Amino acid sequence: MRHLMSPMDFSVEELEKLMDLAGDIEANPAKYAHACEGKKLATLFYEPSTRTRLSHEAAMLNLGGNIMGFSSADSSSAAKGESVSDTIRTISCYADICAMRHPKEGAPMVACRHSSIPVINAGDGGHQHPTQTLTDLLTIRSLKGHLGNMTIGLCGDLKFGRTVHSLIHALVRYPGIRFVLISPEELRLPGYIRSDVLDKNEIPYEEVVRLEDALPNLDLLYMTRVQKERFFNEEDYVRMKDFYILDMKKMALAPEDMYVLHPLPRVNEISVEVDADPRAAYFKQVQYGVYIRMALILTLLEIEVK
Ligand code: NCD
Repeated sequence: MRHLMSPMDFSVEELEKLMDLAGDIEANPAKYAHACEGKKLATLFYEPSTRTRLSHEAAMLNLGGNIMGFSSADSSSAAKGESVSDTIRTISCYADICAMRHPKEGAPMVACRHSSIPVINAGDGGHQHPTQTLTDLLTIRSLKGHLGNMTIGLCGDLKFGRTVHSLIHALVRYPGIRFVLISPEELRLPGYIRSDVLDKNEIPYEEVVRLEDALPNLDLLYMTRVQKERFFNEEDYVRMKDFYILDMKKMALAPEDMYVLHPLPRVNEISVEVDADPRAAYFKQVQYGVYIRMALILTLLEIEVK
């Protein structure tokens, strides 16, 4: 049985297959409409979410399956002190597959060790967010026609942003990737990712503070919000939260074909005026998130649609 803990759980070839399947789902939705009839997805969310939980649920519903779950720790037995391992043993008796989001790094990994159904990591603390990465890869491949041979700007909270951590792990496997890491000094990418992932794979990167300096040379800009819930004090958050605001004046510095991605939710880091720019791709990204999660559910449940 297979789980999804990190985007590295899939080889580059397997990712290609998964993205091809997502493409077929997009083109022929009716073909997949009954593929998961009689199957149940449980969403176990110990942390807030809009897109990740609902897109897993939409994916299962689009496949003809059913959904159940909880959307906060307070409404589950975690509030009574139940362990993740006991919860997953229980859920294994009810559902065929589950997606778990947890504020503690490694909680979904604990769950998969005690689970008899596939577990999808839907975000664990500041660590990984593999289904967002699958979404991001599919979005980039669809918009640019390929993955690799591009300069990608990652901007915002690179310290706590799990979407960025997962995306870097996944992208270094493609040839010709360069990163521009755009963050305030306090929110730089953690040293262990710089040394164990970027340096180890000889990936060229530079770190800059000013977004304006990076924009003219980017093929893609990945914006992120400052992760309020991971800060130790409110004061630091308030000081950092509006450090970057992408507006049309800054977009004028960027190439004509530089798409802007964002895992969402957005706070202030992209002004709404940018939404109308054809390079703003963050809502398309949301749609791709449903197709790739449909492909993921089918793959983990080993369901083949002919
Ligand atoms: C992200 C997350 O939860 O890490 N959201 C999402 O799943 N699309 C990004 C964020 O919360 O900033």
